[in-house]
Amino acid sequence: MTEKDALATTDHLQSQGHNDHPNQDMKVTPWEVEGEIDYDKLIEKFGTSLITPEILEKIKKITGELPHSLKVQYFFSHRDFDWILKKYENGENFYLYTGRGPSGMVHLGHLIPWIFTKYLQEKFGSRLLFQLTDDEKYLYRQHSIRKEIERYTYENILDIIAVGFDKKKTKIIVDSKHIQYLYPIATDIAKRITFSTAKSIFGFSNSTNIGMIGFPSIQAAPCFLPSLIERKPTPVLIPAAIDQDPYWRMTRDVAERLGYYKPAQIHSKFLPGLGMSAKMSSSKPETALFVSDDPETIDRKISSAFTGGQPTVALQRKLGGNAIGCPVFWYLRYFFDTSDESDERYLKCKTGNLLCGECKGDLSNDSQSFIIDFKKRREKAKDVIDEFMYDGEPYDR
Ligand code: TRP
Repeated sequence: MTEKDALATTDHLQSQGHNDHPNQDMKVTPWEVEGEIDYDKLIEKFGTSLITPEILEKIKKITGELPHSLKVQYFFSHRDFDWILKKYENGENFYLYTGRGPSGMVHLGHLIPWIFTKYLQEKFGSRLLFQLTDDEKYLYRQHSIRKEIERYTYENILDIIAVGFDKKKTKIIVDSKHIQYLYPIATDIAKRITFSTAKSIFGFSNSTNIGMIGFPSIQAAPCFLPSLIERKPTPVLIPAAIDQDPYWRMTRDVAERLGYYKPAQIHSKFLPGLGMSAKMSSSKPETALFVSDDPETIDRKISSAFTGGQPTVALQRKLGGNAIGCPVFWYLRYFFDTSDESDERYLKCKTGNLLCGECKGDLSNDSQSFIIDFKKRREKAKDVIDEFMYDGEPYDR
C-alpha cells in the first residue's frame, strides 16, 4: 500500500465511524445504548471535545508511542485531558478512576477501556480507583437478584485483576462493602443537586425508584476520594465509554463548590456487537464474546456473525466488501490488528481481495488465544483479591 493510499484509508475510517446509517433513533444514556451511534453528534450533544492532533502529539512526547486505542480513535473525545497532561508536565500526577456495573460476565468490549487504563497507569505511574457499582445494578432492574449481583461482583473483580493493574497502585471499591468511604462525599454531592437537575441530566421520571435518583452521587464520589487520600486537591482522569458522561457532567458542576478539581474524562466508543447493533451487549449474548466463553462458543458466535460481505464469493471478488459496516472488521481493528494491519485489511476487503471467512478465521484465532490467556490470569487473581481491596489506608508508598 502506498503512503497516499494509507492516508486515504485512515481519513475515510476517521470520518465514517463504524456505522452505515448514523443516527437512526440513537439513544445513549448510562443505562441504555440503542440505535446507530453518530459519535460526532454525541460530542456536540454532550458538549465534550474531540481529541485533537495536538493532544496526541503531547501523549507521544510524554510516553514515547501512541497507544493503540488512541491511534484507531477508539478513545475519541475528552474533557480537560489537555489540562491533566499540563498538570503532569508540571509535576502534579493524577489519579485514574474507572468502574464496572457487575450485572454479568465481562466481554471484550468492556476490556478495551480497562486495557487503556492499564496503559495510562504504566506510563504515568498513576494510582487507580476501580469502582464496582453493585448497588446501581441492584436498583436499576426491577427483577435483579442480589445473589447474582454478588456473584458477578466476585467474577468481575477477577476480571479487573486479570487485566494486570499494578497492585501497589490499584484499589477496588465495591459500593455495598466500602460505602463508609464514599458516603460522606456522596452526601456532600447529593445535597447540592436538585431533583430537577438530576431529571434533566439522567432522564429520571416520577416512576423512577428513589434509589436510582440518589445513586449518581455514589458514582460521583470516587472523583473526590483521591483528594481526601492525598489531603490536597488532586486531579482525576476517568477513562470510560461515553455513555457514562452524564455522571461526570453532574460531578463537574459541583466540584469547585466543594473545593475539588473538576474530574477530567477521556471517552471511548462502543465495540459493536457481532450482529451490528449499537454496542456489544450482555443482553444479546450471541453477539458478544465473553471472557468466560469456551473456544467452541467463540468459534460458533464468530461463524454466525454479521459481516459487510457480498452474498457470494464471486460478487465479493467483483464488488468488494463493506468493511465500514462490518463488525468483524471493527472487532479486529479495535482489539487485535495493529493499525497498519487493519488499514491493509480494509483495502483488501474493499477491492475484493479478502473473503469474510478469512477475517472470521483471524478473529476466531485471536479471540481464542486472548481468552485462553485471560482465563489463566483470572485463576491467578484469586490469590491476590485482598491486596486489591480498598481499606481506607493510603496506597503503598
Ligand atoms: N455505571 C457504570 C456501569 O454501569 C459503572 C461505573 C462506576 C463506572 N464508576 C465508573 C464506569 C467510572 C466508568 C467509570 O457500568
